[in-house]
Amino acid sequence: MANRRILRGQPVVRIEPKLDRNEPCWCGSGRKYKTCHMTIDAKIRQFALKGDIVPTRDLLKTEKDLEGIRKSSELNVAILDAVGDMIREGISTQEIDDLVVKMTKEGGGIAAPLNYEGYPKSVCTSVNEVVCHGIPDPDRILQNGDIINVDVSTILDGYFSDSSRMYIIGETTPEKKKLVEVTKECVELGLEQVKPWNYLGDMADVINTHAKENGYSVVVEIGGHGVGKEFHEEPFVSYITKPGTEMLMVPGMVFTIEPMINMGSADIYVDDTDGWTVYTEDGLPSAQWEITVAVKEDGHEVLTW
Ligand code: MF3
Ligand code: CO
Repeated sequence: MANRRILRGQPVVRIEPKLDRNEPCWCGSGRKYKTCHMTIDAKIRQFALKGDIVPTRDLLKTEKDLEGIRKSSELNVAILDAVGDMIREGISTQEIDDLVVKMTKEGGGIAAPLNYEGYPKSVCTSVNEVVCHGIPDPDRILQNGDIINVDVSTILDGYFSDSSRMYIIGETTPEKKKLVEVTKECVELGLEQVKPWNYLGDMADVINTHAKENGYSVVVEIGGHGVGKEFHEEPFVSYITKPGTEMLMVPGMVFTIEPMINMGSADIYVDDTDGWTVYTEDGLPSAQWEITVAVKEDGHEVLTW
């Protein structure tokens, strides 16, 4: 499997150097440290000293960065809306790729997946038992009853955005419909946990609990990620960890909530012919929704839904 947003531990805690209160802030805002990040830094330091995993400064976005990610996200979401308008029984997953290519170009962006670690297309289209990284294919014709995740990632003016939605083709079974709905609820419940001084594990636990209560399981090996000037930044975002564990949420962090929820067991494998397509081991369906969220001083800002 390509080396991306794959299960890994959090970075080792680093205590950042102290600045004088009248120095310019490290974030590049041009403001004095005391009127910018000084208070937040002092708080982060307290958590770090008690052994918590805290974000390094490079993970705290400035307003300028946030504005860049916002703009990129607007295009990303417009593409997903357009996919929603065209997706139907009888089209191929390649036609979704064609639309993504066209709209990304019209919007002045770049499709992030194309050539990413050798990925051959501009979007991921994952149908039924495909967990993620399904490769668009002119021969994969959507059938009535299919459930499909379309995962769009866009670069605009150097900023990345990343989100995915599920689409139901025609009428599906009540079981598959429920999987799609519960997975969306998992993301909504996780989002409620996104606020300063909570932990990523607080979010993960509500997601895992809701999935388990419905008889489903959460994929372990592939998770979410920070996003900004790179596609996949720190932290690795797991959806199976425990409350009070994993990285502390601090204003300025931007990351994805994108749990992959399997109807059956959590086990997955990667297609060894294409090196990308991830399947459920038991062949049962899997669903995923992905949003990008920023931690703000008063809670959070949803950048893509
Ligand atoms: N969009 C995926 C994510 O949510 C990443 C896809 S990588 C690709 O992080 F190469 F498969 F496109
Ligand atoms: Co992502």
